[in-house]
Amino acid sequence: MSSVATIKRNVIPPHLEVKGGYPLTGILKVSGAKNSSLVLMAAALLTKETLCIKNVPHLTDIHVMSEILSNLGAKLTNKGNSIKINSEFIHNAELPYRLVQSLRASFFCIGPLLTRLGEANIPLPGGCNIGTRPVDAHIHGLKALGAEVEINNDVVKAQVSTKDKRLRGANITLTYPSVGATETILMASCLALGKTTISNAAREPEIQDLVKMLNSMGARIYGAGTKKITIIGVENLKGTSHFVIPDRIEAGTFLIAAAITRSPLIVGPLIPNHLSAVISKLQECGCSISHHGNNHIKIIPREISGVDITTSPFPGFPTDLQAPFMSLMATAKGSSKIKEKVFEKRMQHVIELKKMGACIYLEKNTAHIKGVKELVGSNVEGRDLRSSAAIVLACLSAKGNSIFTGLEHLDRGYEKLEEKLTNVGSIISRKFNQTTSHNSLSSKTISEENIDTQKKAA
Ligand code: UD1
Repeated sequence: MSSVATIKRNVIPPHLEVKGGYPLTGILKVSGAKNSSLVLMAAALLTKETLCIKNVPHLTDIHVMSEILSNLGAKLTNKGNSIKINSEFIHNAELPYRLVQSLRASFFCIGPLLTRLGEANIPLPGGCNIGTRPVDAHIHGLKALGAEVEINNDVVKAQVSTKDKRLRGANITLTYPSVGATETILMASCLALGKTTISNAAREPEIQDLVKMLNSMGARIYGAGTKKITIIGVENLKGTSHFVIPDRIEAGTFLIAAAITRSPLIVGPLIPNHLSAVISKLQECGCSISHHGNNHIKIIPREISGVDITTSPFPGFPTDLQAPFMSLMATAKGSSKIKEKVFEKRMQHVIELKKMGACIYLEKNTAHIKGVKELVGSNVEGRDLRSSAAIVLACLSAKGNSIFTGLEHLDRGYEKLEEKLTNVGSIISRKFNQTTSHNSLSSKTISEENIDTQKKAA
């Protein structure tokens, strides 16, 4: 065998380089809510008048939704974080597979399209790789409202065949308080003939935000934020201007960033009631949390101890913050148990956290975590949006350097993340395609090199 080392050229995809272990200080600014913005944009299809949505974050999911609306014939104009949408001349009832595949929220268009055009053809949606995510509850709701719906070759074909092309109010009970299904039924029923009720409706703040905007467009919807929502159908909806609520998931991620780096931080703007379950778990594990001005929170982490969480619909602990909270628990004193009860495939961060030295035993959808003194920088990869956030937080707290790949996931849900983190003292930077030469006889990962360095130092 030849002893001559071969030089290989590796292309590292766009990634974040993170120097871990630095304390943070200052104010972390929260953007407008992604999940609200997406559904509000779809709701713009319900009126022929112009809608102005303000405080919309710049994210790839928002760009895809913009492309979807343009494809249907809507006119969009952007200025800063505001989007104006005029859907007077929408003509297309069909969404292209290419766009729908990357954004589950594209399915939100089905209710407005049915209402405006009497038909909608939408491929079964894609989105984050966190489970099967069926749309049966959406379809059940649309059928109850009088739509004819069938699925052929993975395309949902829905139409209204009444003479007046109007859906009919109905009493609908959801078997699970699905956020998306509640939103689909809300948008489909606000222009239906008669009264609709949704029992076991989702109570998430994004539902309340949607209803606030629909009501300011002229809809008559009552009970948003409770388990029973009543909708009295109206003849038409008008344009309005609406300011999107702060992103509670981004805010929660930042509070956890403070806790995991053991740094006092101010986070906002946010609506504390939207984060009650998260705030109480952060307090329980050792953080002092107080109001700071009108709409900011100050968090001061003390010694962090293990606490258990179980995800559930709002007002319970949000599934979207399960992964970031697990990173925190990986560094806590003692043990904790995290149960994922909303999605069945949302533990993709576990393997990456283990690469960084976390001690986690996964039993189906329950993670048993034994906190370690510190995580160690590594080459890590995000495979879905929230697990990516969790991994970046772990990198911030870890000893040594990390390379994070999976920006395509992170960029779906966190606006200017590295800029915001840099502003509070993180050493984190985005690198685009880089070619590295490495010797095939000594192809160590960063984490191996870090561990070697630490051994040498010890
Ligand atoms: C929304 C959020 C997502 C969040 C989730 C739960 C958006 C764009 N996304 O997703 O970030 O994690 O709420 O808070 O707003 N289900 C069915 N049949 C259906 C619909 C849902 O079985 O027809 C199941 C899902 O598979 C899942 C559970 O219900 O297990 C919750 O899903 P749902 O509340 O609908 O979440 P999304 O609206 O997809």
